[in-house]
Amino acid sequence: MPSTSGAPTPAATLENHDAIELPSAGTVTVIASSARADTYPIHITRTLEEAAARVRELVGGAQVAVVTETTVVRLHGDALLAALGQEGLAPEVRVVEAGEANKSLDQATGLWHWLAAGTLGRHDVLLTFGGGVVNDLGGWAAAGYMRGMRYVNVPTTLVGQVDAAIGGKLAVNHERAKNLIGGFHQPLGVVSNIAFLDTLDVRHVRAGLAEAIKKAIIASPAYWRRIETDAEAIVARDHDALERLVLAASAIKAELIARDPYEYDARRTLGFGHALAHPVETVTGYGPVLHGEAVAFGMVVEARMANARGLLPDAELERIVRLLRRVGLPTAAVDLGAAVDGERLLAATEKVRLARGGSLRWVLPVGIGETVIADDVTEAELRDALERSGIGVAGPTGA
Ligand SMILES: NC(=O)c1ccc[n+]([C@@H]2O[C@H](COP(=O)([O-])OP(=O)(O)OC[C@H]3O[C@@H](n4cnc5c(N)ncnc54)[C@H](O)[C@@H]3O)[C@@H](O)[C@H]2O)c1
Ligand SMILES: [Zn+2]
Repeated sequence: MPSTSGAPTPAATLENHDAIELPSAGTVTVIASSARADTYPIHITRTLEEAAARVRELVGGAQVAVVTETTVVRLHGDALLAALGQEGLAPEVRVVEAGEANKSLDQATGLWHWLAAGTLGRHDVLLTFGGGVVNDLGGWAAAGYMRGMRYVNVPTTLVGQVDAAIGGKLAVNHERAKNLIGGFHQPLGVVSNIAFLDTLDVRHVRAGLAEAIKKAIIASPAYWRRIETDAEAIVARDHDALERLVLAASAIKAELIARDPYEYDARRTLGFGHALAHPVETVTGYGPVLHGEAVAFGMVVEARMANARGLLPDAELERIVRLLRRVGLPTAAVDLGAAVDGERLLAATEKVRLARGGSLRWVLPVGIGETVIADDVTEAELRDALERSGIGVAGPTGA
C-alpha cells in the first residue's frame, strides 16, 4: 500500500489490498470467484412443538414472516402460529391461493410488494409453510428480495419433505414452460414435521414416494430395500415409516447437492424420470397428472429404453415396475389420469430438447442404485419405449 513518507496511513483505506493500477488497454477482465459455502440442517420432527422449537433455533433473534397457501393455512395455520407463539414468535402471514397455477411471477411480485410494505430486512427470515409450490415460490421471492434474504422451509407435503424443500433450487412457472423463471439460493434450514402428512391425501403421498423411489434407483440400493420393506406402511402414513423415508431422502439429496449444488454437471442423475415427466404434465395441462405420477411414468419409459439397449436386465425392469405398481403409481399410459397423445408428447419432448441446447440427456438405469447418462437416444428408441408403455405413436420411426 503506497503512503507518503512519514505520514500515517488513513484508517479507512483498502487495508491489505494493493493499490489498483489503471489499465492501458481497452479490455477489462472481471474475475468473480469466491468460495461461498452454504451449510444448513434438515431437522425431521414428529410434533409441531418440536418443529417450532427448531425454527426458533434457526432464526435466532431475527424477525420472521410466513408465506403459506389457502389449504395449508386452513388445516395447520392456527396450530403453527400457536406453536411459534410459544417460542416468542409472532409473524405476519401472507396467504396465496393453493395450487400449481399460483407458482407464478404474479404471486412472486405480490410477495415482493408485501415484503416491501413490511419491516423485514435481509437478515430476517421468511418461513415457507406449504408444499413444493410454496417452497419454490416463497424461496424464489426470498432470493430476489434485497438480493437474497434468509428463509426457512417448513414443507407440509411428502414431495416437499423428500425433495422440493432441499437444495435451494427455486422457480416459478411461465406460460411457456414450467419452472422457467428462477435461480438458486439455499435456505437457512429445513424443518420437516412428519405430523403435517396426516392430512395429506393418499394420492399426494404416492406422488412423494415417486421422488423417493427415484433417489433409490439413482443412488441407493439400501434406500430401495427400505422402501420395499415399508411401502404399505408409508402409504398408510405410519409415522415411523415416514420418518425413515424422509430422513434417508434428506441424506441422499444432501449428498447429491454437495457434489453439484448449482447443476454444473450435465451428467446429473436427479433428473431421472423428468425428461418425459415435464412433457406429460405440459400436454395434459398441468393438473390431471400430478408431478410425481408423471415422474413414475417417465422412470418406467427410461427403464424400458435401458432394457431395450440391453443395459437393464428384464428382472430389474420388472422389479422397478412392480414396486411402483405396489404403491399405486402409474407405470403405463392407462394408469395416467388423462389421455396422452403420442405425437403431442413427442413434440413437447422435442421442445425440451431445443430448450436444453439441442440434446436431451436420458438417465438410463442399469440396476438399482446405478444409472448411465445417454444423449444419443434416437426418436425410434423413444417411440418404441413409449409404445411398450401404452402410448402409440404412428408415423416415421427414423432417427
Ligand atoms: N425445487 C425443487 O427441487 C423441486 C423438487 C420437486 C418438486 N418441486 C416442485 O414442487 C411442486 C410440487 O410439490 P407438491 O406436490 O408438494 O405440490 P403442492 O404444494 O401443490 O401441494 C400438493 C397439494 O397438497 C396440498 N397440501 C399441502 N400440504 C398439505 C397438508 N399437510 N395436508 C393436506 N393438503 C396439503 C396443497 O394445497 C396442494 O393441493 C411442483 O411445482 C414441483 O415443480 C420442486
Ligand atoms: Zn421432480
